[in-house]
Amino acid sequence: MREIELKNDRGLSRIFLGGSIEELPRLVDVEKTVVITDTNVDRLYGEKISDFRRIVIEPGEINKSLDTVKGIYEELMDFEADRSTKIVGIGGGVVCDIAGFVASTYLRGLFFAFVPTTLLAQVDAAVGGKNGVNFFGYKNLIGTINQPDFVLCDFNLLKTLTPGELKNGFAEAIKHGLIGDYDLLSFMEKERTSIISLKEYGIERIVHDSLKLKTSIVAEDEREGGKRRILNFGHTIGHALEKTLQISHGEAVSLGMAFEAYLSEIKGYIEREDVERIYGILKGYGLPVHFDGKADTIIDAIRKDKKREGDYIYAILLHRLGEASIERIKLNEIEGLINDMCKFE
Ligand SMILES: NC(=O)c1ccc[n+]([C@@H]2O[C@H](COP(=O)([O-])OP(=O)(O)OC[C@H]3O[C@@H](n4cnc5c(N)ncnc54)[C@H](O)[C@@H]3O)[C@@H](O)[C@H]2O)c1
Ligand SMILES: [Zn+2]
Repeated sequence: MREIELKNDRGLSRIFLGGSIEELPRLVDVEKTVVITDTNVDRLYGEKISDFRRIVIEPGEINKSLDTVKGIYEELMDFEADRSTKIVGIGGGVVCDIAGFVASTYLRGLFFAFVPTTLLAQVDAAVGGKNGVNFFGYKNLIGTINQPDFVLCDFNLLKTLTPGELKNGFAEAIKHGLIGDYDLLSFMEKERTSIISLKEYGIERIVHDSLKLKTSIVAEDEREGGKRRILNFGHTIGHALEKTLQISHGEAVSLGMAFEAYLSEIKGYIEREDVERIYGILKGYGLPVHFDGKADTIIDAIRKDKKREGDYIYAILLHRLGEASIERIKLNEIEGLINDMCKFE
């Protein structure tokens, strides 16, 4: 089992790769621990953690709210949780974000850990310390930055995910390759079949390399003052597309990455053949590269996005495959390019 460490203000956050959820009682005291999970994960894996006291929430982004947090605080009071209580979030990104927030705020902060159960949570959401909930329609508006004490990635849990859920994780792993790890990208290109069929060596490698990159960026810039922004590759436009086109996060990020790759070509940073190669990799994982909608609607959504700064957005541009930088781009400059990316224009 490989391990990655992330040093932070509070000490050390340890990431165990390839362990089993059944080893949890060796990592935390069963008597002192409260597990937070959702009904889907509980139905599938509850038996494996039946010794632990559990708080089971409703699944889905809609439940990533202060109401859910309030319900959890109440259950913790019923359990008479005190400063020695440990919280373990077992679930996808929604459960990890909520459990991290609850643990960071209850009694001003308890020990907490995650067992991420989706590929997206393993390659991304469970690591980096951002915990929070949505508020009044705004994503992650209320939250904390606080690293978990440990993260245990059990790859066997991924076998019950739908192809759509897996794609969300593949998109983020491709993102990590594109912005900072050319070898990861080529591995994903070459070993696609093994990765899609969840062969352990393939999944272990993409989770390991993704987290190695993410932790190195977070260690440099935990509070997103600068460098951490490159992790938003594909996301500025992706978020606008996710809302407008009602597509999944992975599909939206794929379109956002396809767009920023094209923008990097227009800027003269990368070649056409690089862009074609990126499109090929994304399509290989069943991810889209052309917008299935009207340019005007998409431009409108980008204009409304809260990340916009006046007439500018921050784009993440590629200088080669595996290297990216942040650049302020005028909205006018990208409007024409969005037309090029629309299938039905
Ligand atoms: N904190 C961060 O840095 C960060 C980074 C990326 C994303 N996120 C957040 O993560 C969330 C998305 O996470 P997600 O994609 O994991 O979604 P999710 O947590 O909603 O999980 C997706 C679905 O899969 C189910 N599920 C979970 N594990 C399963 C398993 N092993 N088998 C079968 N079904 C399973 C869940 O019940 C849910 O219905 C968003 O809220 C996003 O904001 C946070
Ligand atoms: Zn994302």
